[in-house]
Amino acid sequence: MTNSRVKLICSFTIMLFFLSTHYAWAQQRDRITVDGGQGHVRISKYIYGQFAENLGRSNYGGIWVGPNSKIPNYDGIRKDVVGALRKLNVPDVRWPGGCFADTYHWKDGVGPRSQRPKRVDMWGNVVDNNAFGTQEFLRFCKLIGAQPFIAGNLGSGSPKEMKRWLEYLTYPDSTKLAKMRAKDGHPKPYHINFWGVGNESWGCGGHMSPQYYSDLYRRYSTFLHDYSGNHQLKLIASGTHDEDYHWTQVLMKRLGQSMAGISLHYYTVAGPNWAHKGPSTNFSEKLYFDGLKKALHMNDIIKHNAAIMNQYDPHKHVALVVDEWGIWTAPLPHSNPGFLYQQNSLRDALIASSTLDIFNKHAGRVRMANIAQMVDVLQAMLLTKGKQMVKTPTYYVFKMYKPHMGATYLPMHIQSAKYSYQGQSIPAISATASRDSTGKVHLTLSNLNPHKTQQVTIKLRGVQLHKITHGTVLTAGSFDAVNTFADPNRVTPKSFSHASLQNGTLTVNMPSKSIVALQLQ
Ligand code: AHR
Repeated sequence: MTNSRVKLICSFTIMLFFLSTHYAWAQQRDRITVDGGQGHVRISKYIYGQFAENLGRSNYGGIWVGPNSKIPNYDGIRKDVVGALRKLNVPDVRWPGGCFADTYHWKDGVGPRSQRPKRVDMWGNVVDNNAFGTQEFLRFCKLIGAQPFIAGNLGSGSPKEMKRWLEYLTYPDSTKLAKMRAKDGHPKPYHINFWGVGNESWGCGGHMSPQYYSDLYRRYSTFLHDYSGNHQLKLIASGTHDEDYHWTQVLMKRLGQSMAGISLHYYTVAGPNWAHKGPSTNFSEKLYFDGLKKALHMNDIIKHNAAIMNQYDPHKHVALVVDEWGIWTAPLPHSNPGFLYQQNSLRDALIASSTLDIFNKHAGRVRMANIAQMVDVLQAMLLTKGKQMVKTPTYYVFKMYKPHMGATYLPMHIQSAKYSYQGQSIPAISATASRDSTGKVHLTLSNLNPHKTQQVTIKLRGVQLHKITHGTVLTAGSFDAVNTFADPNRVTPKSFSHASLQNGTLTVNMPSKSIVALQLQ
């Protein structure tokens, strides 16, 4: 063999060696370390709350069809919707708004249904017959096993009105209002834990300044007493939105611990602005990427608000309540634009999973959140059409994340590859790990890269785990895949087995644009 041949073979072997080690390294770029032995923060189950505003078809059509409907119902409430929601263990439902809350006068929605007044609804200019009122909402909560989170009217109602609604709901004895409740079918006081004192008071709730709102909060909250039904009412102040940190600063300074929680609203708009939000179906990779990037911005918004809250409340008595979040797209063509009816794709499922990861990570401060919204509005769990109902990809995320509810958050360090698009990038991997009361560890991982499989290596420190006892994956052929009434199972969870556990190291081969949930023991 000539010298030059030997040289050629040598350099070829060196190159092969380099390529194979580099490939192995490249494959291992997604590394997560989980401190399984640590963790002292419980993930509040209320992070998984929902929102059902009196808006569009959410309450009328989506939840309530009336007792005479041909659609199977429990005294007017859809059975299929109740059945699906029960499986999510929904912890709480916020109602009646949203912006609607500050236009709602509760007495319109109690007493015999036939005598309730008709009103023009602020959303979509339709007539609302008030059939789905206080008792109907509370019956719905009972059916799905959720706690009510009532949003009181501070914008156009009076302190007297708000106080009387609370008395009607929760006072035990025979006052006029307690008797009214009994006549309406519920002699025992309701158990109401969460009470919103206005909504978006900087905007649709009255266009107030934070100084003026905080004065009103003091005034209204003075009259919201603890009756036996509510025992210890948790008052949630109307908080800030997006990057308006001044609102949080003023409220924390002026109201401090008189609030159990302060709210935050942040919506993901994938398009360039509110006038061009982008469609919920058939969208480009740009709208996929931008949607995810903007959803991940929730982390910065929470961090900034939490830093302000830490100045006034270092022991975290006041919860940050993200009681409106999710993707807001253009309404579906041919729907009433005021009804905010949109489809829900695999992208939106990834927005849900990565946002829930952010909330879980900040669980010390974020102790409640309510996705907007539950049925037929914005990023819904369920879509309905007449007697048909379909579960959205977001529904399945909430199902896969159930084990994190009430579990202990396990601190993790994520070193993730990037998903880049047109010169911008985001981390490809988002994750949460938690330990439940029986010692099982639950891991949820999202691969936001729509093109590449990611091999994720997870080092589990401080826990002895021997096997993967359960694995599920949610993915589809395209990032804009949706479930429709004609094709309801396009994006549904499947069993997942591309993971292995050896000597405390878990290796997961994550398909592109997927969410994986694993249970380890
Ligand atoms: O969720 C729809 C609307 O968005 C709510 O009514 C309002 O609070 C927010 O601006």
